[in-house]
Amino acid sequence: MRHLLSAGDLSLAEITSILNIAEEMHTIQGRPIKKLPTLRGRTVINMFFEDSTRTRTSFEMAGKWMSADTINVTGKGSSTSKGESLRDTMLTLDAMGTDCFVIRHGSSGAVAQAAGWVKAHVVNAGDGTHEHPTQALLDAFAMRRHFRSAEGGQSRTMEPGDNGFEGKTIAIVGDLLHSRVVRSNVLLQRTLGSKVILVAPPTLLPTGVEQWGCEVTSDFDAALEASDIVMMLRVQRERMQGGFFPTAREYTELYGLTPERLARLRPGAAICHPGPMNRGLEISSEAADAANSLILDQVTAGVSVRMSVLYHLLGGSPE
Ligand code: NCD
Repeated sequence: MRHLLSAGDLSLAEITSILNIAEEMHTIQGRPIKKLPTLRGRTVINMFFEDSTRTRTSFEMAGKWMSADTINVTGKGSSTSKGESLRDTMLTLDAMGTDCFVIRHGSSGAVAQAAGWVKAHVVNAGDGTHEHPTQALLDAFAMRRHFRSAEGGQSRTMEPGDNGFEGKTIAIVGDLLHSRVVRSNVLLQRTLGSKVILVAPPTLLPTGVEQWGCEVTSDFDAALEASDIVMMLRVQRERMQGGFFPTAREYTELYGLTPERLARLRPGAAICHPGPMNRGLEISSEAADAANSLILDQVTAGVSVRMSVLYHLLGGSPE
């Protein structure tokens, strides 16, 4: 694997290998001393041109726990604010001897473009409304652990044909239009073999969504009753110009995971949200903090999965 740009680029064997190594990395998280020598001498630059809490921090932790030298560059503090182009910034940092760039950028396609300019490996940490592949991987990791424990088993490494997603239904609900998380999840879950139901008001459906190979509906209640995982997405107000729904109250009424809907979840079903959450809008506090909420498991998974991704890109012998 040279870059990780899209969840659609990963084969079933690659996904399984990333999730299995993440399972090993997960054990490190529970130790008092969280350090492996794996990436000693390797340099990872996190370049975040958009705000982030969990993605940026977890990539930094992932690199540090594997002994890589990690450096953070943001749009504001770098020469891009002096008018330097993204290409010149990338070529400059690449020329210093960087081994891997982890990039978040507000423009869809910018990360793939950057990958074409540099010698280093590139990981897409979110590009505009396009993709966020490590989020879909960490979601899959948290779900896989949930399915396994619901069946009474221990978490363990799995075979490509035995990840536990076959026959499972995942509802992804909310602001699909602005969500890179949904795009990466649809691509990843297609390879993993689950059924995905997309739920949104017609104004928040992306153009061409009917070609994504998913069931698409605006009936949240029907989808809820059919789903093993209900993944709520944040209403991305910062990407909205104009009104996409009449009032916040109406949105919550029709598309929010309210306490009433929480009570109607299938037995054994679990709740996901990539964060950050708008509590009281797309998700109630009762649902966010429920026993069957995987939201903090997703955060924990973020570090293990990103360790595994960096290991897959950088851990082998240098190319
Ligand atoms: C998401 C993102 O930035 O795409 N958050 C995250 O990475 N955990 C989703 C969001 O911003 O709503």
